[in-house]
Amino acid sequence: MSGVVVETMREDDLEGAARIDAEAFTQGELARATPRSEQLREELVRPWARLRVARSGADGEVLGYALFWHVVDEIHLLNVAVASAHRRRGLGRLLLDDLLAYARAHAAAKVLLEVRVGNAPAIGLYRALRFEDLGVRKRYYDDGEDALEMMLTL
Ligand SMILES: CC(C)(COP(=O)(O)OP(=O)(O)OC[C@H]1O[C@@H](n2cnc3c(N)ncnc32)[C@H](O)[C@@H]1OP(=O)(O)O)[C@@H](O)C(=O)NCCC(=O)NCCS
Repeated sequence: MSGVVVETMREDDLEGAARIDAEAFTQGELARATPRSEQLREELVRPWARLRVARSGADGEVLGYALFWHVVDEIHLLNVAVASAHRRRGLGRLLLDDLLAYARAHAAAKVLLEVRVGNAPAIGLYRALRFEDLGVRKRYYDDGEDALEMMLTL
């Protein structure tokens, strides 16, 4: 996407990323009592966590972000979210292309994730990138929804 850069999240991006989370997740695992910016701040200092933002080249606004963990030769995608006003413009794909470039550059063997079975946009994005279904984890989320486990072998 023209005019958008993907780069490492900085501390002063936390509020923008937390706002995107707040509109994306009204329930479940990310809607806990701890403020989202604090949850993300904890990730910023975890040695194995990687936080990337898609930023508008025009004004620097955070338009989306991805959080993943690099554990030995596996990448675990914990979250990818795009501001609702900027969805369906290729930003989710851009963030995941960046993740895949990271994974390949670090010789990772696979990328793993869990997604709510009812989250059609995210499942659509992962399938478009050739992730495959691994299985279903029953009642994985706090509200009882099942998780679809997906994997991309590199
Ligand atoms: C999932 C999400 C990150 C996708 O971001 P996005 O920037 O809108 O996605 P893109 O524009 O890059 O879409 C890439 C492809 O994903 C698929 N896709 C995206 N949105 C979709 C939708 N609403 N329905 C079906 N497929 C969709 C399509 O294949 C799309 O390609 P196309 O536009 O050429 O058809 C975004 O919907 C979001 O932030 N959702 C809320 C947070 C969330 O649920 N994250 C996943 C947690 S596991």
